[in-house]
Amino acid sequence: MSKEKVLIIGSCGQVGTELSESLRNIYGNFNVISSDLKKPQSDFWNQAPFETLNVLDKKNISEIFSKHKPSIVFHLAALLSATAEKNPKQGWELNMNGLFNIFDASIDFGVKRIFWPSSIAVFGPTTPKINTPQKCIIEPNTVYGITKLTGERYCEYYFNRYGLDVRSLRYPGLIGYKSDPGGGTTDYAVEIFHEALKNKRYTCFLKPDTNLPMLYMPDAVKATLDITHAASEKIKIRSSYNLSGFSFSPSILAQKIKNHIPDFEISYNPDQRQAIAESWPGSIDDFDARQDWGWQNDYDLDGMVKDMIENLTARYSSM
Ligand code: SER
Repeated sequence: MSKEKVLIIGSCGQVGTELSESLRNIYGNFNVISSDLKKPQSDFWNQAPFETLNVLDKKNISEIFSKHKPSIVFHLAALLSATAEKNPKQGWELNMNGLFNIFDASIDFGVKRIFWPSSIAVFGPTTPKINTPQKCIIEPNTVYGITKLTGERYCEYYFNRYGLDVRSLRYPGLIGYKSDPGGGTTDYAVEIFHEALKNKRYTCFLKPDTNLPMLYMPDAVKATLDITHAASEKIKIRSSYNLSGFSFSPSILAQKIKNHIPDFEISYNPDQRQAIAESWPGSIDDFDARQDWGWQNDYDLDGMVKDMIENLTARYSSM
């Protein structure tokens, strides 16, 4: 029987949904507590403990930490890039004060290990765009990026100052079929599959040649579990690790989808998310993650496209 109690905060988001499933398989349903602002009505969320948790409510956090005494915490609750630009103050409030509240509760209740995701959004327009190194000029110009960079600095600070064992990855755009994306700039790369299968056409909110680093969700879950489970001495970067799978632009992705769905058509109507995308790197050098704790992605672009289409085809045909 597992000795660990795992708490996932922001369970119902794009990463949390898939991570909840994988963690239940590892630790057993009873030892994985999912939490979010609201509990969705579905069998999946009824099969294991679920708590309503607001990361801005310290009393609520104390109650949940004291009730479950988690040893490992995955803190995923955040406003993503496009949503945070619409609500800059709320983006800072949720992303930063939420982080402080969870860090402080983790110290108070003796949590052994925390995972918190950062993002390629920490990079900005002055960052080298190709094979962006782990350490380089980092001047984000979005609220989301500013909160992620500040959060990274605090991960390192809490580790050095309080010995809090926080681990972090700079997620690139994440693509998955099990859950819906929520307010990200890279989310066109998920929407496009749904529209291709349902309507055979998609209007993209980014320009055709906007290259961005991406990762398929099974690999993102693998990286998250690998860094969280790695021996402490392997974690040499205590802010956040660069992480990537592959890079592509909307026009390249559309061509790959056309190989499976020949009558698929894409058109372009760039909006304010174009400026966000242009401030981010086109590709990422994740050498340190590969060297320090053995990161390796299983899926390339073709493998991801094939798997997305197969799984979404099965989902839509069973509806
Ligand atoms: N996928 C995120 C976003 O687009 C980046 O981390 O906001």
